[in-house]
Amino acid sequence: MFDIDELVASCREALKERNPELAVKEIMERTMSNPAQVESVLGTPTLGGIVTLHHSRDLTVLKVIWAPGMSIYPHDHRMWAVIGIYGGREDNTFYRRGEEGLTQVGFKELETKDAVVLGGEVIHAVTNPKQGFTGAIHIYGGDFFNEPRSEWDPVTFEERPYDIENVMRQYAMANERLSKGHPASN
Ligand SMILES: [Fe+2]
Repeated sequence: MFDIDELVASCREALKERNPELAVKEIMERTMSNPAQVESVLGTPTLGGIVTLHHSRDLTVLKVIWAPGMSIYPHDHRMWAVIGIYGGREDNTFYRRGEEGLTQVGFKELETKDAVVLGGEVIHAVTNPKQGFTGAIHIYGGDFFNEPRSEWDPVTFEERPYDIENVMRQYAMANERLSKGHPASN
């Protein structure tokens, strides 16, 4: 049975490995092999948002619910991340710094049961292309909330300091659209 405390304990053990992100990916794959069980513990989504399941200096575990149609502009993490999907879809667009702003270098659709590692240098933007919610667990090899890092304006690609309050506003706006019955306008 999926258990949040066991997941966190396993991840803390994984931090002792030479490549903790690969060990965490294995843990995530096992966890996501039964997505219905994960949803039964984390709850069926009714709103977009981020719920902290564990937060310490060297490990952050989040439940991330993407509202229908919502997007988050490009940002980096500056620590490894392991993403697992237990419902819906998460489309990732990958970038690198270009001559001016950002250059797109890749795209990946993450479906239910998928688990992937993102390296610390990754810059990505995320969209939920579905009309339903997407439920994910995001595990970061550091302090997700306090590590200084960057975000980029989605139109001008101008780099600026990452602002978690700005992220939370995106969720609030997505939920507002949802309450008005316009989930996909973004
Ligand atoms: Fe991210």
